[in-house]
Amino acid sequence: FTPSTDAPKLLGRIIFITGGTSATGHSTLLHLCTLSPAEIYFSGRSHAAATALIARVAALAPSVVLHFVQMDMTDLSSIKTAITTKFRNIRLHLLICCAGINAKDTLAINSLTKNGYERNLGVNHLAHALVLKLLLPTLLRTAASRPSADVRVVVLTCPQFRNASTVSLAKARSITAEYANSYAESRFAAVVYNCALAVRCRKITAVTVLPG
Ligand SMILES: NC(=O)c1ccc[n+]([C@@H]2O[C@H](COP(=O)([O-])OP(=O)(O)OC[C@H]3O[C@@H](n4cnc5c(N)ncnc54)[C@H](OP(=O)(O)O)[C@@H]3O)[C@@H](O)[C@H]2O)c1
Repeated sequence: FTPSTDAPKLLGRIIFITGGTSATGHSTLLHLCTLSPAEIYFSGRSHAAATALIARVAALAPSVVLHFVQMDMTDLSSIKTAITTKFRNIRLHLLICCAGINAKDTLAINSLTKNGYERNLGVNHLAHALVLKLLLPTLLRTAASRPSADVRVVVLTCPQFRNASTVSLAKARSITAEYANSYAESRFAAVVYNCALAVRCRKITAVTVLPG
């Protein structure tokens, strides 16, 4: 399978991708634009990066409508406000959970999110759990709208998820030395959560990806 030649066109599709402003999310968004979807919502914090991306897509794929959903994923209320005010579409075919921070991120060391969770777990998993919760009714409605709707949730994780076998939300309320494994736990949580989605929502194709 060669994405540039084998991926089908996405005509009429509505896409939401977290972390579209840089790195993997940015590359994914640019590739998706070549497949002619109708609209792409993308999130991030950087307004400058979003503006540059919108200008690039306007030249590359002028028919694709981009919407920047600015949010700080260390703050659950920011996510809720951003999605409820900026995402107004009645359909959503594809959600890609790509935003993240990694263990090497200096901010990740000894810091909690604004909601008081360890930062890796907070951004990589809990923030995405809220994104999914807010968008799930639209995903389900879209999936039920026609048999060929082909609605998908794609969650990015990392091979280090294998270094964890449990996640303790209570423990994630504080930073301790034993929490050195927090990045792995956040990636493990993403895998387990998306498996649960696959089991509970059969009309949605839930896929977990190792992008490395
Ligand atoms: N890169 C790799 O080699 C690799 C390997 C294995 C797995 N992965 C996984 O692939 C995914 C993408 O990784 P990546 O390295 O390409 O990108 P990344 O550096 O993990 O993510 C960057 C994106 O996340 C957004 N982001 C980060 N913190 C945020 C926050 N607090 N609030 C809102 N947005 C935030 C950034 O937006 P702003 O800068 O605009 O805020 C940016 O768009 C992750 O889930 C990672 O675990 C990556």
